[in-house]
Amino acid sequence: MFIKNIISVFCPCLLLVSSYAANAGQALQPSVQPVIDHSKAIPVTADSFICLENMLSVRGFFVGNLLGEIDDTVAVAMQAEGGFYPPGSIVQLVPTEAMIKHHKGWSEQTNDWEFFELKVSKKGSKIKVRGTTEVKNKFGGNCYECHKKAEPQWDFICEDNHGCDPLPVPGFLIRWAQKNDPRCDVSQPNY
Ligand code: HEC
Repeated sequence: MFIKNIISVFCPCLLLVSSYAANAGQALQPSVQPVIDHSKAIPVTADSFICLENMLSVRGFFVGNLLGEIDDTVAVAMQAEGGFYPPGSIVQLVPTEAMIKHHKGWSEQTNDWEFFELKVSKKGSKIKVRGTTEVKNKFGGNCYECHKKAEPQWDFICEDNHGCDPLPVPGFLIRWAQKNDPRCDVSQPNY
């Protein structure tokens, strides 16, 4: 019952917030398709996404590295002055949304980040939407339009004080989503 109540509060709240953000973004800038250099892509499949508990927690969000360079990713995440994430970095706040860094030159407009909207269940992850400036979460919020507002030294990472529009979702609901990742029931390796 508690879980049902939480979900019924959480979803409409995100819906309102995110559609406002999406509309604001569209008003500011017409959608322009960025140039993608596919030769700089890091292969990403549904299996690239794992239970958040098997990633490394940094100040309330989670990081990994698909190329095995986790130390480089953590070093940037821990930098007090910000910094540019290395290729292969994967960053998540909640189970259903992720950012992955491709090699330099993949997409200049997004600092080589690709945005993902995922579907997660006990069976694992499915990629629902992926891309750059056009990806929206299931509530209509455009990832790029929000995350590009982070001050340049933070490389599109918002946290709660980097210049992005805030997520007016109470922290306890985000933490609830983090602790209830259904994929954690499946035994998976760490990165
Ligand atoms: C309303 C604006 C908004 C939208 C839309 C949005 N985000 Fe965010 N996102 C934020 C903010 C603000 C935070 C930081 C929240 C905190 O730490 O309290 C955040 C956190 C994150 C993080 C953790 C790292 C960080 O930046 O702090 C990831 C990864 C992320 N979002 C990915 C996505 C993806 C992928 C999408 C689209 C599918 C998306 N976001 C849509 C504003 C947004």
